[in-house]
Amino acid sequence: MSESLFDVKDKVVFVTGGSRGIGFMIAKAYVRAGAHVYICSRNSGVCDEAAAGLGKLGECASLPADLSQMSEIERVCLELQTRESGLDVLVNNAGTTWGSSLPSFPEKGWDKVISLNLKSPFFLIQSFLEMLAAKATKGDPTRVINIGSVDGLRTPLWDNYSYSVSKAGLHHLTKTLATPLARRHVNINSIAPGPFVTDMMAPMIESMGEERISEKVLLQRLGVYEDMAGVALFFGSRASAYITGTILPVDGGMTAAI
Ligand SMILES: NC(=O)c1ccc[n+]([C@@H]2O[C@H](COP(=O)([O-])OP(=O)(O)OC[C@H]3O[C@@H](n4cnc5c(N)ncnc54)[C@H](OP(=O)(O)O)[C@@H]3O)[C@@H](O)[C@H]2O)c1
Repeated sequence: MSESLFDVKDKVVFVTGGSRGIGFMIAKAYVRAGAHVYICSRNSGVCDEAAAGLGKLGECASLPADLSQMSEIERVCLELQTRESGLDVLVNNAGTTWGSSLPSFPEKGWDKVISLNLKSPFFLIQSFLEMLAAKATKGDPTRVINIGSVDGLRTPLWDNYSYSVSKAGLHHLTKTLATPLARRHVNINSIAPGPFVTDMMAPMIESMGEERISEKVLLQRLGVYEDMAGVALFFGSRASAYITGTILPVDGGMTAAI
């Protein structure tokens, strides 16, 4: 057992959507803490570049894939199996959104979001289960961390119907899978972020401005790297070994205020 409660040194970590935004923050936190990190996203140039940048801080490799495709989930899982005997932490972070008013909301905006935000995490967990179980013990469980959203905890501020529903579904999937995963000594938890400055948030920041968004947050600011890094390391380390099936808002008190 590691001396530090929050130690993740030498753990094998796979972060979907790790090339930018919140996924990049999580990948960076694990790389800096001495883990062996793999990041995955569609644009291979951007993914390779992000991994190379993080590689200057520690160990990071790029495994590009379109995780909305079942064949790609299977391919990337096989690829990781050729490199690693097991997986310590799977971070299901890749996500997308769609904004449109109810009368004009298109089927494409429903299917694309539900597919990546809800279906893909389920099949990633299924595909990586044997690798997660390979390193898991009762006293030292391996981990799945799902990145949900405050929009899955309360009705959203924006017209993002499929997004908020997908995140509520992901939170419930976290609870639902806690039982079968516990039998294999794998813990599963969700982080539900409030607003963080990323590409996904850019249209909202442009239309509302950071200040007006911050007013919706009890702590009066948007989330930054340290806010996500701390909780991501907590859910991957000994410190959270007795926690599974939970959803933790990391939102500056946004959901406490409603
Ligand atoms: N930002 C926020 O304020 C906020 C708040 C609550 C929850 N979240 C959640 O946090 C997660 C990350 O969001 P973010 O704001 O960091 O978004 P982002 O900046 O848009 O980053 C999304 C990441 O996912 C990758 N990705 C998108 N589609 C993919 C696919 N089909 N296959 C593989 N990778 C894919 C992107 O790379 P490619 O485009 O190259 O594939 C990118 O690396 C999401 O689940 C989001 O719902 C964010």
